[in-house]
Amino acid sequence: ASEARAATTSFDFEEIMAGVDEKHYVAKGYDADVLLRWGDKIFADSPEFDPMNQSAESQAKQFGYNNDYVGFIPLEGSSEHGILVVNHEYTNAELMFPNWATIGKDGEGKDKVNNGVFTKEIVDIEMAAHGGTVIEIKKTDGKWAPVLDSKYNRRITATTEMLISGPAAGHERLQTNADASGTKVFGTLNNCAGGVTPWGTYIMAEENFHGYFGGSLSEDHREAANYERLGAPAGWYSWAEHHERFDVSKEPNEANRFGWIVEVDPMDPTSMPVKRTALGRFKHEGCETIVNPVDNRVVSYSGDDERFDYTYKFVSNAKFNAEDRAANKDILDDGVLHVAKFNEDGTVDWMPMIFGEGPLTAQNGFESQADVLIETRRAADLLGATKMDRPEDVQPNLTKGTVYVMLTNNTRRKAGDENAANPRADNAFGHIIEITETGGDFASTKSTWEILLKCGDPKVAEVGASFHPSTTDNGWFGMPDNCAVDAEGRLWVSTDGNDKEKTGRTDGLWAVETEGELRGASKLFFRVPIGAEMCGPVFTPDDETLFLAVQHPGDDGLATFENPATRWPDFEDNLPTRPSVVVITKQGGGKIA
Ligand code: FEO
Ligand code: CA
Ligand code: CA
Ligand code: CA
Repeated sequence: ASEARAATTSFDFEEIMAGVDEKHYVAKGYDADVLLRWGDKIFADSPEFDPMNQSAESQAKQFGYNNDYVGFIPLEGSSEHGILVVNHEYTNAELMFPNWATIGKDGEGKDKVNNGVFTKEIVDIEMAAHGGTVIEIKKTDGKWAPVLDSKYNRRITATTEMLISGPAAGHERLQTNADASGTKVFGTLNNCAGGVTPWGTYIMAEENFHGYFGGSLSEDHREAANYERLGAPAGWYSWAEHHERFDVSKEPNEANRFGWIVEVDPMDPTSMPVKRTALGRFKHEGCETIVNPVDNRVVSYSGDDERFDYTYKFVSNAKFNAEDRAANKDILDDGVLHVAKFNEDGTVDWMPMIFGEGPLTAQNGFESQADVLIETRRAADLLGATKMDRPEDVQPNLTKGTVYVMLTNNTRRKAGDENAANPRADNAFGHIIEITETGGDFASTKSTWEILLKCGDPKVAEVGASFHPSTTDNGWFGMPDNCAVDAEGRLWVSTDGNDKEKTGRTDGLWAVETEGELRGASKLFFRVPIGAEMCGPVFTPDDETLFLAVQHPGDDGLATFENPATRWPDFEDNLPTRPSVVVITKQGGGKIA
């Protein structure tokens, strides 16, 4: 096996050992440096991080919590100077705030801290720690650093004013007491993964927005079934107690203004982010966009991260304009959203979601395209889309005409409910599907698919994992979540949910072969400290830098501010553990491979 590997492996790095401890590890010969930590300055005049004296005002000028998606936007085509965009998905109050005794999590995963009392001050800090960061960064003498006096730097939070555009903009179901126009909303929530568009904008995907809403609706309320399909209001946070708009009893349409794709122009820090309703409303894990080589239209892929939910792609009507950046400004407002049906014969139908077509009619409660988009999940249910094992990142690979779909896990799939694309009942470790878009046409409505990898421990026969036999005991993983494709078209997968009990290892970044006799072989490149999830991965265009996000380090389910499972990355007794972006470079320079 080692000879075969030497002959055809795409990856040269020396694999690291899987395991669980307080530190991070990267393959030999590479540096992993902490670039930005929760609380770090984003502006030259930001206050210093002072965890014992936090305020919403300070937090709004500092790096937010729980970095997830990371994107790199080159300045003038450079791989050594650009704008880093980072999502701040959510907050862990028990790890953020001092003197709060964690008494565990309830059945919904809600933090029950500080005897259940969240003051407005705390809630406002949480709101300022959400959203995203846009920050100029530069590599000097081989090391990256933020440029704090940059004109591009900006924080986006749960209170930043945004526009709503596309077919659902202005619809009465999006109107509220504060916004009779249905076109303006404050903030973006639970931005998990995201994307950078071919015209250099930053996409923030709104995922578990239902957790921020409280209150209740009567069963016969117009939005009751809509909200129930999304699990809203889940009341994971106490925001509704201090901000009425998060209480659906008081502001029943506010939750319709979340669950969208948000586009930000990082080149203009005064620009208003825009919620693009044409891409549908659901729990978007991310949104990765390419220019279709066949016709220059724009195609965006997005997974809906819930057990038994769906995989989507949006195809623009207009063509991408490479000569005039501004011409692409509203390209995501006009196009067709499709949902995937993975057939048993290895084909996939990308079914258009158009008002008036098929079941998407008044008979089924849809009066317009706006209704189809506001209730994307119900529309997809009616179309008979394939119920998946939690679609996370969906990543097109332009160099190969393929698309990778990360399906993280679904232990609620029962025996008898399997389908060809989700073949395992009690799927604890997830799998990866590879779609081949017909003829390299990413706008194709009829393509093919196969399973690239069934995850989990290959030594345990009942798990049914399908890693290539050359994969070592360090090389297998469970629970794929995000992924990146490097400049050579190679796949790198990051995970969410590996731990000592489930897999005997932390989360990390694995390099996965997709071609040739080693297809399905995997190698561990980087691993996170205990309690963390691995997010981010993105390469600079020259493949010489890799950015990774270490999310919720120290969170082992019992940890508190005072007693985290690790004090990564500072390892100082007076500092809490901090989610951080890590930058990987090769010692002495060169490509990451
Ligand atoms: Fe936020 Fe789908 O993970
Ligand atoms: Ca994720
Ligand atoms: Ca990705
Ligand atoms: Ca996840």
